[in-house]
Amino acid sequence: MLKELLLKNRSYRRFYQSETISKETLLDFINLARFAPSAKNSQPLKYYISNSETTNSKIFSTLSWAGYLTDWDGPIEGEQPSAYIVVLLDKNITENNFCDHGFAIQTILLAAVEKGFGGCTIAAFNKTKLSKIINTPENMQELLVIALGKPKETVNIYEISDNESIKYWRDENKIHKVPKRKLIDIVINKN
Ligand SMILES: Cc1cc2nc3c(=O)[nH]c(=O)nc-3n(C[C@H](O)[C@H](O)[C@H](O)COP(=O)(O)O)c2cc1C
Repeated sequence: MLKELLLKNRSYRRFYQSETISKETLLDFINLARFAPSAKNSQPLKYYISNSETTNSKIFSTLSWAGYLTDWDGPIEGEQPSAYIVVLLDKNITENNFCDHGFAIQTILLAAVEKGFGGCTIAAFNKTKLSKIINTPENMQELLVIALGKPKETVNIYEISDNESIKYWRDENKIHKVPKRKLIDIVINKN
């Protein structure tokens, strides 16, 4: 069951934009992220949520999508995310968030997948522009953006050898293909 959820939890970048996600649902996802581990248990993460068309389109304008797909500018109108969660670090709590945000984001993404949604973690965003849009408090710093929605694309993973490309790509039917390294190639003391 966990494996099924993990396999389904791909990075989705095309959505049914009209399929909205309620504020309550977004809060439910974040509530689950509270149970994630936290270095020194300092719990320094804060969140900004958006599910309105106006704020969504402003946040969208700050994001960069799928760097390896050089002939694709990101999702078109109608296929854009219907919600966002911006993950922030509260520097009043700590300046060092270790990898707390990774645990929290995976929790949120898995929760979204379980509810029939999907998302994409985005590190490539215009920080200055995003700060202005969400009015980031002085003591906080944006770490990553989670784009969420009802996925409108198929994403397939396949295994690669160490000498093959790790770049994801799309086939002629717009199926998004994601290479994953083999188990045998990532455990260093397998013998
Ligand atoms: C920390 C992090 C930052 C990422 N930043 C971006 C990004 O800026 N834009 C984007 O389109 N995808 C981004 N991704 C998604 C990755 O490209 C994706 O996880 C990878 O291609 C593997 O695909 P999968 O998630 O379906 O396994 C990011 C993922 C992670 C973990």
